[in-house]
Amino acid sequence: MAIENPVCLISGAAGGIGRACAERLAREGGRVVAVDRSATGSDDLVDQLGGRSRALFVQADLTNSAEIGRAVGAAVDRFGGIDVLVNCIGVASLTRVPDVTEQEWDTIFSVNLRSVFFLSQHVLTHMVPRRSGTIITISSASAKIGGVAVGPHYSASKAGIICLTKSLALYGAPYGITANCVCPGPTETPMTDAWGDALNREFAARIPLGRYATAAEVAHAVCFLASGDARYVTGEIVDVNGGLVMD
Ligand SMILES: NC(=O)c1ccc[n+]([C@@H]2O[C@H](COP(=O)([O-])OP(=O)(O)OC[C@H]3O[C@@H](n4cnc5c(N)ncnc54)[C@H](O)[C@@H]3O)[C@@H](O)[C@H]2O)c1
Repeated sequence: MAIENPVCLISGAAGGIGRACAERLAREGGRVVAVDRSATGSDDLVDQLGGRSRALFVQADLTNSAEIGRAVGAAVDRFGGIDVLVNCIGVASLTRVPDVTEQEWDTIFSVNLRSVFFLSQHVLTHMVPRRSGTIITISSASAKIGGVAVGPHYSASKAGIICLTKSLALYGAPYGITANCVCPGPTETPMTDAWGDALNREFAARIPLGRYATAAEVAHAVCFLASGDARYVTGEIVDVNGGLVMD
């Protein structure tokens, strides 16, 4: 890791990719603040992350700025700062172009882009005075190709993450803060489990490597970006997609 025992705040940590990132960063020596609106399995998660002396779970709805403040405040109070922010929060939708409603558009953008920005903005207020830190956000292969399965609002929100990453990288660079994103293709998590076996088999057949990623495979890329080996990498988009998108 870039520093010893970094404090890693992971949003969406009760989900598939978030949990895999939390577990991987904890194994590498990180102290983890796991944040999610769902507290399901949170005691088990804290145990997995090394117990209460090394991990904290905060239940928060990150579309709400007061809840963002509470989650970040809890992390800073407990561990004294935040070294690594991993934005894994997200909701998907398979709704096609003609059927997307204004309400669904707003919900997807609120979770996938708006809350990622405001959580990052809040965490940066703690990283900037320390002149160090890294922000890693999970975008999606759909940001580049418009979505194999997912709707236009989801893909557009994830394309926004790519540009947001570059803006955060430019803002953070003078302070030694880096920002990168990872674009996974379809990955085995509760999000894709909800699509059903038939659809998942059909989509997997379109991937050159012939299968979905595991959440742990996405976490490998996140872990690299959080490590000292990536300290000169910023504004970058790392693809983990089995060859689905080659650009
Ligand atoms: N699974 C895939 O195929 C895939 C592919 C590309 C990108 N992604 C992205 O990876 C990230 C993680 O996805 P996943 O597959 O692990 O999904 P997941 O559904 O397993 O996890 C998402 C987590 O985000 C949490 N969350 C949602 N809204 C929240 C809110 N308002 N406040 C706090 N927590 C909230 C959920 O409770 C859930 O635990 C998402 O950004 C997703 O868009 C997933």
